Formats: sequence, C-alpha cells, structure tokens
Amino acid sequence: MIIEPRTRGFICLTSHPKGCEQNVIDQIEYIKSKGAIDGAKKVLVIGASTGFGLASRITSAFGSGASTIGVFFEKPPSEGRPASPGWYNSAAFEKEAHKAGLYAKSINGDAFSNEIKKQTLDLIKADLGQIDMVIYSLASPVRTHPDTGAKYKSVLKPIGAKFQNKTVDFHTGVISEVSIEPAQGDDIENTVAVMGGEDWKMWIDDLKSEGLLSEGFTTIAYSYIGPSLTEAVYRKGTIGRAKDDLEATAFTISDSLKPLNGKAYVSVNKALVTQASSAIPVIPLYISLLYKVMKEEGIHEGCIEQIQRLFQDRLYADKIPTDDKGRIRIDDWEMRADVQARVAELWKEATTETLPKIGDLKGYEKDFFNLFGFMVEGVDYDEDVNEIVEIPGLQ
Ligand code: NAD
Ligand code: NA
Repeated sequence: MIIEPRTRGFICLTSHPKGCEQNVIDQIEYIKSKGAIDGAKKVLVIGASTGFGLASRITSAFGSGASTIGVFFEKPPSEGRPASPGWYNSAAFEKEAHKAGLYAKSINGDAFSNEIKKQTLDLIKADLGQIDMVIYSLASPVRTHPDTGAKYKSVLKPIGAKFQNKTVDFHTGVISEVSIEPAQGDDIENTVAVMGGEDWKMWIDDLKSEGLLSEGFTTIAYSYIGPSLTEAVYRKGTIGRAKDDLEATAFTISDSLKPLNGKAYVSVNKALVTQASSAIPVIPLYISLLYKVMKEEGIHEGCIEQIQRLFQDRLYADKIPTDDKGRIRIDDWEMRADVQARVAELWKEATTETLPKIGDLKGYEKDFFNLFGFMVEGVDYDEDVNEIVEIPGLQ
C-alpha cells in the first residue's frame, strides 16, 4: 500500500515501515561512526522501541556489541493498517542486529504486568543466563497495578494553582493561551503510580531474586528537569512528582544492589520531540525555540546523540559524574545559562506571526513526522510498501 501520514491532534495514526527502517539505519550508522564503547554486554531495555529506549538499545548493540532483549508495547500491523512505529523500528533493529551477528530478541506486551515480567525473566534464563544492564525507558499514560489490578492514569497538571501560558499547535503554527487547572483528588498519586519508580524497582527485585543480575550490574532510568518556563506544568507539576519518585527509587535500588556491587542511576536528558513529549502542553513551543537556539550554537542533539554521549562520556567514563542529587546530567547543553537566557527572550517575543522566524517549527514538525517514518530522507513515499512486517526475534 501507499502510506501517508494521517494525524489527529498530537498523534499520527499511520506509520511508514521504510521510513522507520531508514531512521534506525541512520542511528546505527551514527553509533558506528563514533567508535566502540566499552559498555555492558547483556542488556535488557524496557521501552526499547522508540525515543530514548530505542537509542539506548542501538547504542548498546552497535556501540558495545551487546546482546539485547527489548520489551515494548506496540500495535502489530494488519492487512491495510500499518503498525505503530515502534513495531517497524524494532523489526528494522533486529534485522540489522542479526545481520551483524548480534543476539536480539523482543517481547511485545505490558511491561507493568507480572506476565510480561515472567516471560522476560524466562527468556533471560534460557538465552543469556545473567544480564549486566537494565535500561528503563517507559513512557506510558496508564498503568494497571499487577498486584491489586487498580488502574492508574497519569495527568499533566500543575500543583496548587492554575497554570496559564503560551502554547503552540505545531501543525498549524498557531500560538494560543493555554490554561490548565491544578491537580485534584488522586491526580498526584495516580501520576506517581504510572511514571514513578515502583515498576522499575519491581523489575530489578524480580531479576535479582531469580539470580539474573551479574556482579557489577547497573541500571538506568531517564528523567527530565527543564527550565523555569515549564516548571509549573512539568517539574513542579504532577509529572515532576513522578520524576522525584523515580529519582528517589534509584537510591533504594542501589541499596538493594550493594551485595552485587551494583548501582542504579537516573540520567536527566534533554527535551526532545517524542510521542511522549508532543502530548505535553507548552513543551512543543519550548522545544521549537530551544531547537532554534541549540542549532544556531551547533549543540543540537537528537535521542541517538544524547545516548551516545551519555554512554561514552558519563556511564562508561572512569568516574561517573553526577550532580548534587546523584543524577547524571546529559541535559547540560540545554541548561547552559546562555541558551536558557536566549530561549526566555524568544519566549516573550513568540506569537503566531513571529514564530516561523524566531522558532524552529519546521524542525519540530520534521522530527514529529520522522517519529512515524515520514519526511525521512532517502525514502520514496510513492512506492508501494508492504505494511505487514515481522519482527524477526519477537517471542
Ligand atoms: P517514547 O514514547 O518514545 O517511548 C516509550 C517506550 O515505552 C516505547 O518503547 C513504548 O512501546 C514503551 N511502552 C509504553 N507503555 C508500555 C507498557 N505498558 N509496556 C511496555 N512498554 C511500554 O518516550 P521517550 O520520550 O523516549 O521517554 C522515555 C523516558 O525518557 C521517559 O521516562 C521520559 O520521561 C524520559 N525523558 C523524555 C524526554 C523527552 O523530551 N522526550 C526528556 C527527558 C527524559
Ligand atoms: Na523510550
């Protein structure tokens, strides 16, 4: 079939197998161009199919020659209906990994559930024996608790007071005023239950109690801080509480890993266009201004550049540099004082009329469509493609 983008709000309903494949190949080529990283050799990536998790899987495999197991939740294709992009990404990744002689298998299902945990543990036992690294990169709006069956929904709300600021519809470029009511009732607890650290700890506890973690094991999860501009709705909002919880969980997990000389880390990453971040109000406008400034300064990075630098210069450096809260910072270029001062100035000037000039709306849009395999260089979109693609190592 000929596949074209079909958008509804901040999501795209279709995705292109060839475009997704090309994105993965481009990321692999980037990692190969940067040379070998002396990193983990047996790696489990939870949330491995898109964004930072996919970049982490690619960096582990093609930077360190690692065997990887990827867990994700993606929609398979059916006749006339393309899969979700993470499906095609994972198919392309495994095809390339296998060509390179690397072990790569995947599990598609709800990582929060006991069933998927058990299936993953069984696969590790059967194929890898033990693992030396877990990358935890889930971004989900919902979670069903595996023990109680309670269903939690995360919300993106400020805490204490209504939030009012500019936002952009990145499809039309129209800037408008958005107003978000503060969290109520169980909003905070629910968001922490979905995006906090409980599930990360459950994974590590399960793996540890089955003896599947090697001596010197490490695990890493991803967080975000961002500027004061977005603070009320992000870091000091409901999602920020979940990130506080995730960051605190790193210490609890580290304690439990002491007998193995293991450690848990949180890395604070840069704001990037992913399916998760496009859904957050205000963030797309911030990102389009940030991209403009960072590109002008020659310090713009995508997921793959971020993770390559995280592994090379932080995680596998002789001494892992952390901030005063024990976090690895790879958002250092985003948070540079000159960059933030410039973004804050542009923010004040941003209107529907000025944005095309002062912001990188084009870059935002391209990155957004790229997530779904569209607007990718070297792909012929007039070509008939088969929407039915298999993931070679899918269990
Ligand atoms: P993403 O949407 O690209 O990736 C989410 C991944 O989680 C996908 O692989 C998806 O299949 C998987 N997933 C979702 N629900 C699942 C479930 N129930 N079971 C199994 N897999 C499931 O998101 P991302 O932006 O790469 O986010 C990953 C992490 O990085 C998050 O913790 C996020 O907060 C953090 N982060 C993101 C940004 C950003 O700007 N995008 C910045 C800093 C940190
Ligand atoms: Na991810």
